[in-house]
Amino acid sequence: MKFCWIPLLLVSCAAAAMTPSRLIANIPGRTTVSLDGAWHAIVDPFENGQPRGFFHDDKPKDKSDLVEYSFDASPVLNVPGDWNTQREALMFYEGPVWYRREFSYHKHEGTRVFVYFGAANYRTAVYLNGEKLGEHEGGFTPFDFEVTSTLREGGNSLIVEVNNTRRPDGVPGMRFDWWSYGGITRDVELVEVPETFIQDYWVQLARGSQNEISGWVQLNGAQARQKVTVEIPEAHVRETFNSDTNGRASFRLTGRWELWSPEHPKLYDVVLTSGGETVRDQIGFRTIEAQGTKILLNGKPIFLRGISMHEEAPFREGRAFSAEDAQTLLGWVKELGCNFVRFAHYPHNENEIRLADRMGLLVWSEIPVYWDLDWRNPATLATAQAQLRDMIARDHNRAAVVLWSLSNETPVKAERLTFLTQLAQDAREMDSTRLITSALNHVDNTAPDERTLSDPLGEVLDVLGLNEYLGWYGGRPEDADKLQWKLTWNKPLIVSEFGGGAPYGRHGDTDERWTEEYQDNLFQHQLDMVERMPNLAGLSPWVLMDFRSPLRMLPGVQDYHNRKGVISNRGQRKMAFYTLQRFYRKIAEGGTQNH
Ligand code: GCU
Repeated sequence: MKFCWIPLLLVSCAAAAMTPSRLIANIPGRTTVSLDGAWHAIVDPFENGQPRGFFHDDKPKDKSDLVEYSFDASPVLNVPGDWNTQREALMFYEGPVWYRREFSYHKHEGTRVFVYFGAANYRTAVYLNGEKLGEHEGGFTPFDFEVTSTLREGGNSLIVEVNNTRRPDGVPGMRFDWWSYGGITRDVELVEVPETFIQDYWVQLARGSQNEISGWVQLNGAQARQKVTVEIPEAHVRETFNSDTNGRASFRLTGRWELWSPEHPKLYDVVLTSGGETVRDQIGFRTIEAQGTKILLNGKPIFLRGISMHEEAPFREGRAFSAEDAQTLLGWVKELGCNFVRFAHYPHNENEIRLADRMGLLVWSEIPVYWDLDWRNPATLATAQAQLRDMIARDHNRAAVVLWSLSNETPVKAERLTFLTQLAQDAREMDSTRLITSALNHVDNTAPDERTLSDPLGEVLDVLGLNEYLGWYGGRPEDADKLQWKLTWNKPLIVSEFGGGAPYGRHGDTDERWTEEYQDNLFQHQLDMVERMPNLAGLSPWVLMDFRSPLRMLPGVQDYHNRKGVISNRGQRKMAFYTLQRFYRKIAEGGTQNH
């Protein structure tokens, strides 16, 4: 490794292990113009829009001209937001919807412009002024396209086709236990950057070090060789270095940092300057490791008191997307006594991740490789790899994120193991500092009251996730009392799911299904059992809040909702909420023998 000496700094010129993304990092820290708001939208169940060229936004040339569509005359949908909960007729709709946003723009000399989408579910095609910018697949990761040369001075027409139809080769595939909310479900922004700009950067502690920050900055533009300055004003750090012919500069900063933790979620202002551009971010520094059967945060064992949650809006239902949604949902997570949250089963919006950074919540972030996929299909693997890449690209500077999860409850078969082993390798290449996990649910009944977690995927994971539903999908809650668990690997274990369903306010005996008493009794027996499990490093019971699902159709009980929430989607806390809260309070006060 070559070293170039700069006073007080040892700058490693070797490229750090992490690969740059294609995405523009840290949109909140950029110069942006929001395109959120009311977009005219055409619902297109027979996929008429492509052959008819809706992206041209044709208007009749005279009173005899035939044009059989009109964005101007079509009703609007709010962006961001799923279409399902905006119009009753669209609640179950699967197919394309064409959105149009007209906007005027004044070009600035020496500025490049990108259009950025926080997410759109599931497949998206984007057109500006009749020209196709590109396509994107995946419902929960950001994407952007450069529009510098396509933008017009004055009036512009941005047209977006979003199709939420499930696909056998998709990620997720055809069956999943959440609502397939379609639409432009997160923010849309125009992003203005200089000709050569800071596209991406990595500023995190080097693996295993509490003092050395290992970082890089990736420039994008013709002037690849630039002076790049990193400032951390509070730490009196201000260093300048040169990027190489690829626009990349790697560096190391040594210092004594206040480490980020749930108790002290310390974020430093980080200021990156290159050419005429300044990008500001707030970054926490911490280490996360798996050592034997423990998870170490900043070198000390930590027990993860968590809960799983979907990106479901509290009260109004539909896809959550706003800072207010994040504040409500993570406020409930904190009220439970959690220091950990599992963002199931797909990357959640950036408001949630950045709020977790500020609140001191450790995050399990996951791509929707869920249940069964078309494991042998290279296109399916490529889609999963792209979603993993973009999840890591967006959040690799967020201290809160400590676990990248590759999958949830996938079947034990050779082609699935090959697929996920590749994803594990990709994740480690992109990010050598965080832990790799998956939620496994294949266990062997190795004796009458003994279960063994032996899923071969455990071999490639740093941390084992286990979903088990004893007492709900089979058996009685009391059966947990005598159950013994074994693990094939001596690795840390997170019980990533257990739970049972109950509509808020439905009461009865503890053995009466669908009552709060049944759910609460299940939690009590599960918590007693979980405490006895080997290598337990944390848990994230299923689930924070009731959520919509096309698989849950019991009238009067589910009404297309999964009722395993400890909170109803009206914010009503069920009995199990308080049982879990008491359990975490006991752990936090050091009152249990294992943690
Ligand atoms: C599964 C799955 C969840 C699902 C839950 C349930 O294990 O991981 O996505 O909602 O269990 O059955 O309610």
